[in-house]
Amino acid sequence: MSLTLVLFSIFGTLASQAMSRTIDEPSIAYKHEQWMATYGRKYESKSEKEKRFNIFKDNLEYIESFNKAGNRSYKLGINEFADMTHDEFLAAHSGYKMPHNPTTSISTSFRYENFSEVPTNLDWREKGAVTAIKYQGTCGCCWAFSAVAAIEGIIQITTGNLISLSEQQLLDCSTNGNRGCNGGWMMNAFEYVMQNKGITKEETYPYQAIQGTCDMEKAAAQVVDISSYEMVPANDEEALLKAVTNQPVSVAIDGSGLDFQQYKTGVFDGNCGTSLTHAVTIIGYGTNEEGKNYWLIKNSWGESWGENGYMKIQRDVNTPGGLCGIAMKASYPIA
Ligand SMILES: *[C@@H]1O[C@H](CO)[C@@H](O)[C@H](O)[C@H]1NC(C)=O
Ligand SMILES: *[C@@H]1O[C@H](CO)[C@@H](O)[C@H](O)[C@H]1NC(C)=O
Repeated sequence: MSLTLVLFSIFGTLASQAMSRTIDEPSIAYKHEQWMATYGRKYESKSEKEKRFNIFKDNLEYIESFNKAGNRSYKLGINEFADMTHDEFLAAHSGYKMPHNPTTSISTSFRYENFSEVPTNLDWREKGAVTAIKYQGTCGCCWAFSAVAAIEGIIQITTGNLISLSEQQLLDCSTNGNRGCNGGWMMNAFEYVMQNKGITKEETYPYQAIQGTCDMEKAAAQVVDISSYEMVPANDEEALLKAVTNQPVSVAIDGSGLDFQQYKTGVFDGNCGTSLTHAVTIIGYGTNEEGKNYWLIKNSWGESWGENGYMKIQRDVNTPGGLCGIAMKASYPIA
């Protein structure tokens, strides 16, 4: 944040305390203009801009009052999604579909069952097993991003090579049981990669944020393969910890809470359900200064969201499924 921005936000806070709401509006308008410039947002009409300004204002007021209450271990903040209502945001940015899929209820063997050398904290980024944050855009294929991040992880761990892999290949070609931009399951994505005998590079089959027909030529340019996948025993954060100690793990979560859209930093310990609507990848874990344990997750909502695209979410909560259902449907590929 530049010095002028810092000064501005201090002034903004003072101003909002001292002046009435009507006088406050120009400063929010100014923030909106700045935000539009930062994210290259343009509106088609005056009325659209006014509509978006009002949403921006509502979001900003919610964020400021939440942060002012200051009684949670996380903070909210303005990001790329600040001019979207929560419903608009959800419609465009989730995409894990739970019901009616036989493969989601299978239980597999769990190779890390007896693993006991669990360190107190771990960050797979530091070990070079995590590619840069990606952005799914307005396509509900979080499932593809989650599966790809888990494959990228295990391939780096077993070969030493970190290769960014193609979500678009999964989006176009992993259609058996998956619904493209309308949702899907990581297990089906792993199955596809096994059947295709591999997956190609991101740069060979780049992301388009829209489903197309499967490009057989690109799909046949596999660079890495997996042999199988396993499910982590459900509702068991201890088992999940053993798995994450060994490799990044795909998980489904309830990302439908308002605070998810606006999450900025800290350990998320907010209200959360267990209707699994979103998919992410756990890439580590740790404990914050207050002694609160957390999972470190890689999301696919770009770098403006959260901690440069990542989130800490409370670990070891007193519900079997974990906070936001994070321990309910975890899976990982096997190289
Ligand atoms: C935090 O404070 C707000 C406003 O005072 C209150 O509504 C909320 O219940 C509090 N949350 C916790 C976890 O204490
Ligand atoms: C874990 O240990 C038990 C008891 O020795 C054994 O029966 C089981 O097969 C082991 N699990 C794995 C995945 O190796």
